[in-house]
Amino acid sequence: MKYPGKLITLEGLDGCGKSTQVALEAERLRHSGFPVTVTREPGGTAVGQQVRDIVLHAERDAVTPLAELALMFAARAEHIEQVILPALRAGELVLCDRFTDSSVAYQGYGRGIPWEVIGSLENLLCQGVRPDLTVILEIDPATGVIRTGHRNRAASESATRFEQEGIEFFDRVRQGYREIARREPDRVRLVNGQGSIAEVHERVQQVVDEFLKAAGKRAVSQFEQGADFP
Ligand code: TYD
Repeated sequence: MKYPGKLITLEGLDGCGKSTQVALEAERLRHSGFPVTVTREPGGTAVGQQVRDIVLHAERDAVTPLAELALMFAARAEHIEQVILPALRAGELVLCDRFTDSSVAYQGYGRGIPWEVIGSLENLLCQGVRPDLTVILEIDPATGVIRTGHRNRAASESATRFEQEGIEFFDRVRQGYREIARREPDRVRLVNGQGSIAEVHERVQQVVDEFLKAAGKRAVSQFEQGADFP
C-alpha cells in the first residue's frame, strides 16, 4: 500500500442509479466521521469536464472508439494526479463514480477494443492507482434504457452518445462488468441494483462496511473515542 486512503468506485450501466448511491454513501460515511472525497469520471477536473463534453455530446460517429478510449484515459491521468492521489495520500476515502472498469466495460466490451490495449494504457497512465473496492450495480439493460429516457425527458436533455446505443450495446457492457467481477472477486462486488433507492443503499452500505472492517478502517471520531467498528 502506497498511501493511507482507500479508493472505492461505483460502476454500472447508464441509469443504474450509481450517482444517487454515491451521494448517499458519501453522506453516510461523512456522518460516521470518515474524511471523504467524492468525484466522478469523466469529469473531476476542468479538462476532464471538457473531455466529458466531447465524449458524451459530440456527434455519435464523430469520435472513433480508440479516440474515445484515449480521451477517457487522458482525463483519468489528470484526475488521478490532481484529485485522487492527493486525497489518498491524505488518508481519505475516495468515492469515485466510474473509473477504469468503465473503460473495460464500455470501450472494451461495448466497442470491441481488446482488454490488453486498455491494460497497457492503465499501466502507462494510472500510476498504479487501482480501486480497493468496486461496487457494480447490476440492472437489466432494458431498465437502464427506460430510466435514462425518463431522466432526459424530465431534464429536457438529449441522450448522450452512449445512451443513443441500442440494447445490444448495453448487453455487451453488462457482460463486461460480469467478466470483471469474475476475474477479480476480491476487489469487485456485484450488487443488485433493482428495487427502491433505500433498498439498494442498504446493500451498498453492507458491502462498504464489510470492506472497511476488513481493511481495518475506522472513522477518526470513533477511533478517538475507542469505539468498536459499527
Ligand atoms: P454519465 O452521465 O456519468 O452516466 P451515468 O450517470 O450513468 O454514470 O456518463 C458517463 C458515460 O461515459 C457513461 O455512458 C459511460 C461512459 N464512460 C465510458 O464509456 N468509459 C469510461 O471510461 C468512463 C469513465 C465513462
